[in-house]
Amino acid sequence: MAKYYSIAIDGPAGAGKSTIAKRLARELGYYYVDTGAIYRTVAYFLDLLGVSPKDVDGVERYIDELTIDIWYDEEGLQHMIMNGMDVTGEIRTQDISQKASLVSAHACVREMLLDMQRDLAKENNVIMDGRDIGSVVLPKADVKIFLTASPEVRAKRRTDELLEKGQKANYEQTLKDIKQRDYQDTHRPIAPLKMCRDSVKVDTSEMDIEQVVAEIKAIVGKKICV
Ligand code: DC
Repeated sequence: MAKYYSIAIDGPAGAGKSTIAKRLARELGYYYVDTGAIYRTVAYFLDLLGVSPKDVDGVERYIDELTIDIWYDEEGLQHMIMNGMDVTGEIRTQDISQKASLVSAHACVREMLLDMQRDLAKENNVIMDGRDIGSVVLPKADVKIFLTASPEVRAKRRTDELLEKGQKANYEQTLKDIKQRDYQDTHRPIAPLKMCRDSVKVDTSEMDIEQVVAEIKAIVGKKICV
């Protein structure tokens, strides 16, 4: 049976996980799986139905009505398909970020998404990013990275990113949102964001993208012969 490799990248919002994971996936020829996008799709679906992300009964009632499919285009972009509709762009708002964080705390949501994430790693070499990849989804991942940066640096990067895209952004508000999401994602009872004992921590506060990519490639190179 073929051996497939998996690299888990966990960390708080705005640490640069997706930028780094995308780059590495391209360079190594791995699939990049953005698991946050899957939680965002659930949050978007419930939002359309008018169900509050905190309303556990509402979430449990409607979750079975949702089917999620994932496909990758030629550029490797991960498309999220919600009940047949491509919602890749719609899930990238500040509002959906907050709602995804709240909705991801429910057991029924995490259970529904667990096998989907594991199945992707069964038949592909993957770089998967999220909050619980090394701890719950792929505890046997070949490489586990915990990517982090100070909340201030993360807020500054997020604000610049939104402004670059021509969207409205306010540093103070972004910092507040990031701190609130950090709190929610680390304090939920099920699969909270935490660093595993066998993860390598990379603090990107003082690093640029090239430095982070080089450091992670060195870590990967030591663990997997690439
Ligand atoms: O990575 P992101 O910002 O797109 O994730 C959105 C939210 O989804 C995040 O605040 C918490 C949740 N999430 C999670 O609980 N577990 C994951 N593996 C990925 C994301």
